Amino acid sequence: MNITSPPGVFDIIPLDAKEQWRSSYLWNQIEELMRKTAHDYGYREIRTPVFERTELFQRGVGATSDIVSKEMYTFLDKGDRSMSLRPEGTAPVIRAYIEHQLSQDASSQKLFYILPMFRYERTQAGRYRQHHQFGAEAIGNGSPEQDVEIIDMLYTLYQRLGLQNLNLCINSIGSSECRIAYRKALQEYLRSSFEQLSTDSKNRFETNPLRILDSKDPADRKILKNAPSILDYLNSESRDHFEIVQRLLKELNIPFDVTPHLVRGLDYYNKTVFEVTAGELGAQNSVGGGGRYDGLLKQLGGPDVPTIGFGTGIERIIQTLLKQNVPLQQPPRPVLFLIALGDQAKEAGFKILHDLRQNGISSQMDFSNKKLNKAMQTANQLNAQYVVIIGENELASGEVELKEMSSGETTKVPLDGLIRILQIETRGDQFIQMWSDMARPFDNPGETKFFINKINRSIEQTSDMANKLHTAATIMKSLLNE
Ligand code: HAM
Repeated sequence: MNITSPPGVFDIIPLDAKEQWRSSYLWNQIEELMRKTAHDYGYREIRTPVFERTELFQRGVGATSDIVSKEMYTFLDKGDRSMSLRPEGTAPVIRAYIEHQLSQDASSQKLFYILPMFRYERTQAGRYRQHHQFGAEAIGNGSPEQDVEIIDMLYTLYQRLGLQNLNLCINSIGSSECRIAYRKALQEYLRSSFEQLSTDSKNRFETNPLRILDSKDPADRKILKNAPSILDYLNSESRDHFEIVQRLLKELNIPFDVTPHLVRGLDYYNKTVFEVTAGELGAQNSVGGGGRYDGLLKQLGGPDVPTIGFGTGIERIIQTLLKQNVPLQQPPRPVLFLIALGDQAKEAGFKILHDLRQNGISSQMDFSNKKLNKAMQTANQLNAQYVVIIGENELASGEVELKEMSSGETTKVPLDGLIRILQIETRGDQFIQMWSDMARPFDNPGETKFFINKINRSIEQTSDMANKLHTAATIMKSLLNE
């Protein structure tokens, strides 16, 4: 019997015709944009191991959270130590931050990751046992600007990707003191309807009553309609902080809804929490989420500094993009497919293939001595932009026919000019675009002044250098004459 992949996990293959979102060319372009966006906002990459000591997640994420209490892949290693596959990225990043004393390094206060996560969940559309997250964590800054930077980065990523109709919900769950008072009020409110609550919510009543707020059970939702709002229990510091967050989001034109029942499923949060949902995703509609978790560093033995971050699921992003028919890049294709006929041509072609690749032109060649029409079929299947056939005649004349596959047009070109022709052909548009961007006239005197100053400085440096060279030459001359 064939062995297939376990339930809830999947392969990412070059081109998946049935499930397009599992095609690696889509993952590549999305991850590239994630890296670019993270760099634009000053975040550097961190990669933590796939497994950690189980205790990290128990202490970091919270023993009562669903992720830790029900969903972890936990095992004993050969030294009888309990280990768990990483269910989320925040606790490991904070563990690494403390372990490597990254607080000493200015470039390591803002970190991002693109990593697989493992949760033993009930599988369904959009929910997997191995999923991938792009996450970011900003460490050491407790200001509302930091909250908004994190949300802005996530929002900018979604905009750059072309995602539409997203809902950003934000809330503040205040400090631990605010939550103690609120927890009491919520329990009091729910007590009279306790028997009508779902089993899950009954179980959470004592251990983690705030989690009842994001129950999806219809009976629970009805009861919760008139529940007290956490926003009425915020102390003045948390309230002011949340107000500034809202004001700054408005200034950046980032649309949002304040959603007082948003609490999120991990125990480490305080103050600002947020979630982005997409209607197209159905029941599992959360594309990304995050929030402040100011106490986590101290709890894991590090300095007591504030922290905030987000995580966004790559599977769900790609699925939403495809459902929304957002134009995406096409799969990569070779610029040139070389077909060599005969041994001598094969040897010469192989050398040309090497030179093309050395010059950054993606090229392929048929090594298996296929007949011409079979080789052309392969070129078509690979979606090559151009085909060149080299035989004895071409080697003797030094000229080949360059066939453009989309139009079928052929042009005679010198074999030794092939690289340059293809370089111009494939990159010319980029250069034209770049120069037309750069070469437009300045919009205002400030820009002109900046560049005139720069040119003046270069002229001064050049004349200074010329003077020095002149003096050196005069000395040399006089020495030689002596
Ligand atoms: P999370 O909400 O548990 O947060 O996960 C973040 C995102 O990962 C979700 O919005 C969703 O897109 C995706 N995701 C989660 N579970 C699955 C699954 N089983 N299948 C597919 N996608 C999934 C965290 O993990 C926090 N560490 C985020 C954070 C970072 N908070 C502060 N910093």
